[in-house]
Amino acid sequence: MDRKIRIGALISGGGTNLLAIMDACESGGIHGRMVFVGSDRPDAAGLDRARTRNIPTFTVDYRRIIDDYRVAPEAVLPPDDFDLEEILAKQSLFAPEADPGRVNRFFLTRAVAEARLMAAMAATPFDLLVLAGFMRNLTPYFIDRINTAALKPRIMNIHPALLPAFPGTDGYGDTFRYGCKVGGCTVHFVDYGEDSGPIIGQRTVAVVPGETLDAFRKKGLAAEWRLYPECIQLFAQGRLQLVPRTRTLADGEIINRWIVEILPQ
Ligand code: GRF
Repeated sequence: MDRKIRIGALISGGGTNLLAIMDACESGGIHGRMVFVGSDRPDAAGLDRARTRNIPTFTVDYRRIIDDYRVAPEAVLPPDDFDLEEILAKQSLFAPEADPGRVNRFFLTRAVAEARLMAAMAATPFDLLVLAGFMRNLTPYFIDRINTAALKPRIMNIHPALLPAFPGTDGYGDTFRYGCKVGGCTVHFVDYGEDSGPIIGQRTVAVVPGETLDAFRKKGLAAEWRLYPECIQLFAQGRLQLVPRTRTLADGEIINRWIVEILPQ
């Protein structure tokens, strides 16, 4: 088989998905190896899990950048190659009617953080970047500089709901409170929107009558630990291909979307 893929990870918290991925790399479930782990929070517990395995780690403290900007915006300079107009034209995180001051502030501070992420990652070549509980939206500034080959996305995310239902930060909570009888998790490539990129894999988890949100969340997380390594292995095997899909809505509007096709082994 080909060489192992090099996987980088970004995390914000406990890193149980990171652990599942590192374990799968070691057991052969993923033909790959973890080459770095980065975080937006210096206190992310997952950083220790990586250090224990001698995997290089780094932190870019998003909170501090955002706070610095609040105190003295003129002192927080965007990267030289940051073009706000270009980012605004591409982004789909904010609706057109969103407050422009807030939107501009968001993309400027994120570009500062993302440039630091890329600087930290620059020393270590990687094939795939996995977001494993990374609680920050990436912007076109970062995504375009990572996805340099056409139709070969290489940033993956895991989301705690059956997308496109319940994007956002609390997928299990939203699924549970809505009264869904089934929820689950989704692995997808990252695009310019929030949890909106092409879906690679999904796993369902039943909401059992009478169970607590906490119990449902635990089952969901356990499903994530199986799904994420499976999807990463498909990437490692070169079996994920983007293909165009056209849908015509009832009013005649045509939607073009890239979807992921899984190639046979
Ligand atoms: C997971 O539920 C993931 O889907 C969500 O955040 C949680 C992270 O858990 N985005 P962990 O840090 O991998 O333990």
